[in-house]
Amino acid sequence: MNEGDDRSGLSSRRTVLKESAALLLGGATGATAVTALGASPAASASADVPPLPWKWVRLDPLEAGRRAYRFYRTKGGCGTASYLSLLSLLKEKAGHPWTTLPDMMMAHAAAGFGGHGTLCGALAGASTIINLATYTGKSDEQQNNQIIDRLFWWYAEQDFPTERFDDLSPLKKQVKVRAMSPLCHTSVSKWTVAAGATIKSDAKIERCSKVAGEVAYTVTLALNEFFDGKWKPPVWKPDKEVWHCVGCHGPDAALAPQKAMNWNQQGHMDCLMCHADHTKAAAR
Ligand code: HEC
Ligand code: HEC
Repeated sequence: MNEGDDRSGLSSRRTVLKESAALLLGGATGATAVTALGASPAASASADVPPLPWKWVRLDPLEAGRRAYRFYRTKGGCGTASYLSLLSLLKEKAGHPWTTLPDMMMAHAAAGFGGHGTLCGALAGASTIINLATYTGKSDEQQNNQIIDRLFWWYAEQDFPTERFDDLSPLKKQVKVRAMSPLCHTSVSKWTVAAGATIKSDAKIERCSKVAGEVAYTVTLALNEFFDGKWKPPVWKPDKEVWHCVGCHGPDAALAPQKAMNWNQQGHMDCLMCHADHTKAAAR
């Protein structure tokens, strides 16, 4: 493609953007006209729903895990499993404002969001609840992010599935494989290869139900401890091989003796899953 093509592509895209912006504007004007007749929807919504963080109450981790295990099959996968296990308990034990949330809000997170294999939906569903319960909006309180970051790291290090929910499962003591990353694709594919299973097989569905259960169980434990003032953020301490990458590539300031390449990476995943170690001659 030459430069001219590119530019004409851009300008036609701009025209489309302008037109859709005009459409949006028209829509907004219409909405204003409607609301002028009655109560403002925005005002009544903010009166009903308090600002974050929303009140957490002590929940039973095992009950949360068992619900997640069951919801995986009955509610269409991992995103709803972890989210709704926690939410249904919060609706029962804490009530409002949790009762304002729709049950199927995280349905799209199944299979790594829309089947895309990105973040494990069980982590996605649970982290939504973590954020609602711990976000304060204060820049010096990053507890919501910290709990989620450590949850993802914990997940990557687990040998899934655990046997915690085997009493509910027709398939007990399944093959265990380390997830290696919070990505659905890696976590699932490493396991199906080792287990000789397919994505549609009962064994895989059981495995992922148990993963959702274990995530809901662990998050409930962590949040109970957090609100009891007992939660100590586990220090992120990856293997030596990964530790040394971050020492140069950041962004964990305390670890970094130098800033290689202006710190153009972020993240706490296992670097060696995707990169070779260029500091070792053999990798070149
Ligand atoms: C001693 C500091 C240091 C360490 C340790 C280090 N890097 Fe680098 N890295 C650099 C510098 C400086 C560059 C840019 C210069 C270059 O290309 O060699 C770079 C370049 C890169 C690049 C882009 C170029 C390429 O070679 O692909 C990637 C990706 C990368 N590093 C990943 C890693 C990973 C993964 C690790 C750990 C296994 C790691 N680095 C360890 C300093 C370091
Ligand atoms: C899921 C795969 C994946 C993981 C895990 C991962 N990276 Fe990357 N990283 C990439 C891809 C893809 C790129 C962009 C292509 C490239 O330049 O290699 C990239 C780019 C980079 C770059 C910039 C390279 C450049 O040429 O500018 C650095 C530095 C880097 N990664 C370091 C790391 C470090 C350190 C870790 C671990 C903390 C890590 N990456 C984990 C896939 C990954």
